[in-house]
Amino acid sequence: MKRGEKTIPILTLVLVVGLMGWNFHRQRESTANDSSIPFYSNASAELSREAGELIRKYECRSCHTLWTLRDMLRAVPAPALDGIGSLRDREWLFAYLSAPNPQEILPSRLKKEFQMPSYAGLPEDERRRLAEYLASLQVKDWYLKETRTAECSALTGESCP
Ligand code: HEC
Repeated sequence: MKRGEKTIPILTLVLVVGLMGWNFHRQRESTANDSSIPFYSNASAELSREAGELIRKYECRSCHTLWTLRDMLRAVPAPALDGIGSLRDREWLFAYLSAPNPQEILPSRLKKEFQMPSYAGLPEDERRRLAEYLASLQVKDWYLKETRTAECSALTGESCP
């Protein structure tokens, strides 16, 4: 081969290796992002702000974790609200918040003082806003799957799919 002919395969090789490296880097970067925060919300900025105010006002975080924040001093064993919209829909959440006795919907083994209080007395539009916002709280599929598998293993003592 002449000198000029050699440079073409060499350039091609450099290009291919470069592209492979770049792709690998991109893939690693996206899985790294994915594994850092498994929760997200698809609510509008307005709904997030309004519901955020209600959640502060009614102190939901004195028992629940939301956006990984909670009242560490009380440590009530309430379920986390992060990702709750992947498990419950808006209608269910609205009915639950509107129930005079939420334990009829979700039974509780906790002491009365730690159980989910009834919010049936709140104005309907506040219950709707809360339900809509809670329904917007999503968890990424891989995290839900990992959590379910881990929970199933913990409950059954067997390895789960
Ligand atoms: C006194 C502690 C306490 C407070 C305050 C509280 N919760 Fe709860 N919540 C619980 C507990 C505990 C449960 C689990 C059911 C039970 O044990 O009654 C629960 C369950 C829930 C569930 C159902 C979770 C699931 O797994 O389906 C939702 C949704 C919820 N709460 C939302 C809220 C919202 C919104 C607020 C604020 C307006 C709030 N909670 C305030 C303790 C609390």
